Amino acid sequence: MKISDLSTDVAALLESHGVPEREVYLDSENSGLVFPEALQAMVQAYASGGMGHPSITHRKGWETYETLLLATLTIAGALRCQPDELVFTHSGTEANNLAITGLARANKTRKKLLISDIEHLSVTFPAEQLQKEGCRVVTIPVDREGVVDQEFLAGQIDADTLLVSVAPVNHEIGTVQDVRAMTELVKDRDAGVAVHLDSCDAFCKTELDLEKTGADLASISSHKIYGPKGAGALFVRDGTSLDPIIRGQLSTQKLWAGVENVPAIAGFAKAVELMQTNRDQYLAVMTKLRDRLISGITETISDTLLNGPGGDHRAPDNVNISFLNCEGEALTVEMSLKGVYVSSGSACTSRVLQPSHVLLAIRRRYEEAHGSILMKTTPFHTESDIEYVLTCFPDAVQRIRSLSPLKPGGGKHV
Ligand SMILES: Cc1ncc(COP(=O)(O)O)c(C=O)c1O
Repeated sequence: MKISDLSTDVAALLESHGVPEREVYLDSENSGLVFPEALQAMVQAYASGGMGHPSITHRKGWETYETLLLATLTIAGALRCQPDELVFTHSGTEANNLAITGLARANKTRKKLLISDIEHLSVTFPAEQLQKEGCRVVTIPVDREGVVDQEFLAGQIDADTLLVSVAPVNHEIGTVQDVRAMTELVKDRDAGVAVHLDSCDAFCKTELDLEKTGADLASISSHKIYGPKGAGALFVRDGTSLDPIIRGQLSTQKLWAGVENVPAIAGFAKAVELMQTNRDQYLAVMTKLRDRLISGITETISDTLLNGPGGDHRAPDNVNISFLNCEGEALTVEMSLKGVYVSSGSACTSRVLQPSHVLLAIRRRYEEAHGSILMKTTPFHTESDIEYVLTCFPDAVQRIRSLSPLKPGGGKHV
């Protein structure tokens, strides 16, 4: 299909959909709400301190370099790493690709990659590609709540192991892993194994102290913490060898060619600053609304399953519920008509009708995975927003169930 056909389709879709009277955006997993202050910092950077090229030797270059430097100090401070251990990319996806592929290219003597079964596709796809090029990928199983099997992991560490990659917080089901214990275990077995933490969903929302964890690589992404899109970063511990994976004119980054998106990085740093300053208040709001959303749905709508752990082992913003006998994609459209924006399955599978590999890894059946809805609460939401969402779900679910070929009693529920 050509882009011109698609744009006509999208215009028609938007017109037929109309603009709902009330809107609640719960799809921050895929992208979305931005702190106004972060946008302001971005605009400000374009207006004065970020319009140039940070490596160029004239006033505008120096101003841009100063903006980049200040942002770097803020982000490195929050991660508790050194400023020159950060490489800016344009997204978390790029940071994950650089971590995995860059490490494998620079270290050819070890060939085994250990990746948890529930990683983001920006981790699993580069690993799969490396497998085609001669590496061996072993997936680390998880339990029914998504917790990685550390015993299995320990048994897999050997002299050929190059990398262990586990996200401290799972993007889909919100499982919080004990990455400190995991890193200690890996390093105890073999200090030469690199540990990568895809921290896009953990950064600023859970404890992530790189000084304490001892990990070698960690990826972060601006839009996951309500900064602008277009900025991500990879922490590379001093002494870890990586090869660049894209080539071109180097700027201030040794590992990422091309000019940095300094305005977006300035917005990213502002988001980090706000998340740090208001941490307790934001986490309390997100957690309270998360719990209300979970109980409001699971206690009033029949045949629902919470995916992922409860309580402290769950990310403060994550709500992932399977509605049995209900097509998740259809439910997102039905909810959209009511102005409630949610996603079905994971960010990366939402354009392909395949059940999420994360839900299958925690032993959900195909139909349970197909009926899953993912929502993320944010500091921007209010109790009234969540109550509105709760009034919308029952009708929407009933309507989609009434149209569904999947009928109750079609299988055993977990
Ligand atoms: C855990 C995790 N890793 C990586 C990414 C990719 O980040 P980005 O959207 O910045 O490419 C995401 C995005 O949703 C994520 O949640």
